[in-house]
Amino acid sequence: MSVATQPITEVNPLQDPLRFARRIPPCAIVIFGASGDLSKRKLLPSLYRLFYERRISQNFAVLGSSRTPMSDTDFRARMKESVSKFLEDAPFDEEVWNSFEQSLFYVAGDLTNPASYIDLKAKLDEVEKSHQTAGNVLFYLSTQPSHYADAIKELGAHGLQNGNGWRRVIIEKPFGHDLTSALKLNEDIHQVFDEENIYRIDHYLGKETVQNILAFRFGNGIFEPLWNRRYVDHVQITAAESIGVEGRGAYYQEAGALRDMIQNHLSQVMATVAMEPPTVFDAENVRDERAKLLRAVRVMKPEDVAKYAVAGQYGPAKVGGQDLPGFRQEPSVTPDAQTDTYAAVTFYIDNWRWAGVPFYIRSGKRMPKRVTDIAIQFHAPPLGLFTQQTRAGDFREARPNLLVLRIQPEEGISLRFLSKSPGSGMHVRPVSMDFNYGSSFGERTPTAYETLLVDAMAGDPTLYTRQDMVIASWQIVQPILDSWAQTKFEFPNYASGTWGPKASDEMLARQGHVWRVP
Ligand code: BG6
Repeated sequence: MSVATQPITEVNPLQDPLRFARRIPPCAIVIFGASGDLSKRKLLPSLYRLFYERRISQNFAVLGSSRTPMSDTDFRARMKESVSKFLEDAPFDEEVWNSFEQSLFYVAGDLTNPASYIDLKAKLDEVEKSHQTAGNVLFYLSTQPSHYADAIKELGAHGLQNGNGWRRVIIEKPFGHDLTSALKLNEDIHQVFDEENIYRIDHYLGKETVQNILAFRFGNGIFEPLWNRRYVDHVQITAAESIGVEGRGAYYQEAGALRDMIQNHLSQVMATVAMEPPTVFDAENVRDERAKLLRAVRVMKPEDVAKYAVAGQYGPAKVGGQDLPGFRQEPSVTPDAQTDTYAAVTFYIDNWRWAGVPFYIRSGKRMPKRVTDIAIQFHAPPLGLFTQQTRAGDFREARPNLLVLRIQPEEGISLRFLSKSPGSGMHVRPVSMDFNYGSSFGERTPTAYETLLVDAMAGDPTLYTRQDMVIASWQIVQPILDSWAQTKFEFPNYASGTWGPKASDEMLARQGHVWRVP
């Protein structure tokens, strides 16, 4: 066969076609912060579901740990209540639970107290024998972030980072409070665990629809040629939530929207949308490309922050007949809080593919609805031959093509294009081609935590953030954080139930753009 006719679809021999049919080894999972919200709402329901679907080894054990004194029986009863309440789109089965709970244990302890680790070690030895977990241990840090470094240090001091099997640690977000603390945290963890055993979680990367961005881009031949500055005018990434801070006032006042959503979740989404194709779909190649992309994002000069970033905070409003408090009236929030509950940023990616294309990213609490999507707006055709007729019957300039990747809650992809509207005259109207996840596949999609937990047990860090990725994403938000820390904002500047402050619309208007209404 000549070179020219060789099929180009040949499977790369380095690919692992069995990635999704893999066997998960036995292991014990230690959850620090087991009585916390994440454990109740996400971790235990995910583990139960994985057990129910037999996607993990039956030789597993969960060791919950937190300060609250509790017996194994109390812990099981509490977790049963949470799992039955928070299980997403799946039935709770009493019989399966009875067998699942045989693997749940509890060790009370204070993370900063060395004696707690002696108890933990003893319990781990016990379950290793009783549940044949082969000495494999996954530590899950879901405590107050200020305790991460202490906990890691104590694990090291008690030799828990080594054992008969593998030892890995999952670190919940936030990974640091700023660039300096993230660098320090990396350093502290590396004193005890090697990078290959550190799993920094960003649950957005585990979402099916975020993973599908890679399938859409690199599994199809027709989109990628258009995926660059020649064809793309700009990109908008929106993560809007209708809820407020939901009892997390104290944490949120210190964090704010830029840290809470953009530094981690949305910059990883941007990296997924904009990265170069990896040569092989494996952890290091995919993460190399994500890291490379994040490093190419322009780091703002202090004097540019006002032009390219907008902070907002919600005020009180009546929404749907309900009186909603402003952020400053939320429990545990101070009345003069300068926290951003909304953040919008224009990023530029200085590489050959994206030079000059703005990436607009926004996230806010108390927006009109919950929606996360990515809109890729293409250039208009070089010559505007047609006018667009609106539903009201008047005419406007024809709208360019738009591709929307819908992450949640209506998961899918739509492509907007223009079509001749019926009747005389050559007028056009936008229509759309739609793919809907639910109706196309009709099966339950695993939650992000299910996917990520299984990956960590299997030793696959593709969807976890590596140290260079997390540092690069702090680097791009740090000038904004620094500048905002010096600014006295006139907050509140948007009412609950609206799409954020006027300044955010103005930021886009300066470039001749408008936020889409998702
Ligand atoms: C978390 C943030 O990481 O992500 C929350 O701390 C936010 O403030 C949440 O509500 C959003 O996640 P999801 O999966 O509901 O979009």
